[in-house]
Amino acid sequence: MDNRPQWGSRSGFIFAAVGSAIGLGNIWRFPAVAYENGGGAFFFPYLFALLTAGIPILILEFTIGHKYRGSSPLSFSRISKGSQWIGWWQVGISFVIATYYAVIVAWAISYAVFSFKLSWGKDTTGFLLKDYLKLAEPGTTGSLVPGVLIPLIIVWVIVLGIMFAGVKKGIEKANKIMIPALVILFLIIVIRALTLPGALDGLNTFFQPNWSKIMDGKVWVAAYGQIFFSLSIGFAIMITYSSYLPRKTDLTNNAFITGFANSAFELLAGFGVFAALGYMAAQQGVAVDKVVSSGVILAFSVFPQIISKLPALNGLFGVLFFGSLILAGLTSLMSIIETFVAGVQEKFNVSRNLSVSIGGGLAAIISLLYATQGGLNYLDTVDYFINQFGVALAGLFEVVFIAWFVKQLKPLQQHADAVSDIKLGAWWRICLSFITPVVLGYMMYDNLRQNLLNEYGGYPRELIFNYGWSVAIGVIILATLFSMKNWKKDQLNIPVTSNQKEVS
Ligand code: ALA
Repeated sequence: MDNRPQWGSRSGFIFAAVGSAIGLGNIWRFPAVAYENGGGAFFFPYLFALLTAGIPILILEFTIGHKYRGSSPLSFSRISKGSQWIGWWQVGISFVIATYYAVIVAWAISYAVFSFKLSWGKDTTGFLLKDYLKLAEPGTTGSLVPGVLIPLIIVWVIVLGIMFAGVKKGIEKANKIMIPALVILFLIIVIRALTLPGALDGLNTFFQPNWSKIMDGKVWVAAYGQIFFSLSIGFAIMITYSSYLPRKTDLTNNAFITGFANSAFELLAGFGVFAALGYMAAQQGVAVDKVVSSGVILAFSVFPQIISKLPALNGLFGVLFFGSLILAGLTSLMSIIETFVAGVQEKFNVSRNLSVSIGGGLAAIISLLYATQGGLNYLDTVDYFINQFGVALAGLFEVVFIAWFVKQLKPLQQHADAVSDIKLGAWWRICLSFITPVVLGYMMYDNLRQNLLNEYGGYPRELIFNYGWSVAIGVIILATLFSMKNWKKDQLNIPVTSNQKEVS
């Protein structure tokens, strides 16, 4: 009999999957990525990537987890012994992401506190880089910054506390509270932003299509990158989460709900962010494109400026905005950590508590690097490389392996169809065997070429080598080492569940 943990309800799983998908990527990445890559015209590559890769891979990962009932390494081993390293590669990518993702949530905690007194003052970039992060020259580490260290400890205590509580009592419960809270907080912000003067100019700038960009390969790389990171596909999360599903569940429908909920939130974030940017531009008497930014600067420099300029309730809106980042971040962070908690637990046959302590503890220790004065430079480099040469690349390997090496698309389709209302057609197999490998494969080649020719972000070569290439390649080497240890006898047999008959 299978004693694997299980979600308490279907809605519990959907909340967890949506909670994983909706994260920092939706709020601070999507709006600027969309704008920089053609505005309204970006929706074409974005939708193409969502419909031909995002949702089909989500269905694939839900089905793999459900059918093989294991963490990503164990599920891949059950498909074919030699493919275990793909699972560890994905888990390794998640581990790396966890180490810096926690730090961004920590910054958001600090900024929620700063909101009360609008402590960032007038020069918000100066405050962020000098007063708060105490940023050192790229490549220098410097000392730990207490202002980052303290909230970082709080993040790890909260998130590991949830992980210790388990899948149903910890992750599921937390998501069921945090996701509705996030939606409410975020809706309040978006409605406020849309009613500010200048909001319409902001939206016009956002949606203005720049069709000339469509032919640029980089725009497609951006669309696929956004879809993979945002949907949490290609880095072991959705396989792990769906391995806790009961036998009787609707896989395909769950995938559509998760995919569309994530994109709806992304669009909502686009509205909110650009309406707010429109307001700021109007206040400064400049064009909206002069104030557009992304990532760290958008969230922690531009938004504080906007919050300070609001006509009323500035502090409250600050808390709402950074509160949203904290909730979105925490729910995604749990899912990222669950990948290695499950992987280590199964591989080394240890209790969940020990696995959370070892995996989570190690990630927490490594995350201290980003709480140093050089933290932001390290974070930016690692984030860029692990996304460019981790997430989407591991997704590509997964798809090619399943479709072409072990030829498992048909059996997996049968498995999904047996439990789902919507039956998968040939479109699903065509997307995964032809469209995604061809488009993504070409993009990866082009991306590699561009990155070998140009140095990312103008950082010193040593930094790029040590924290960019070495991390991306190191994860693959470690994955190979992990996959050398044999599984315990019988572990490769798929456990029989009490309600197995319902699907067979
Ligand atoms: N899917 C998560 C995000 O968008 C990781 O941030």
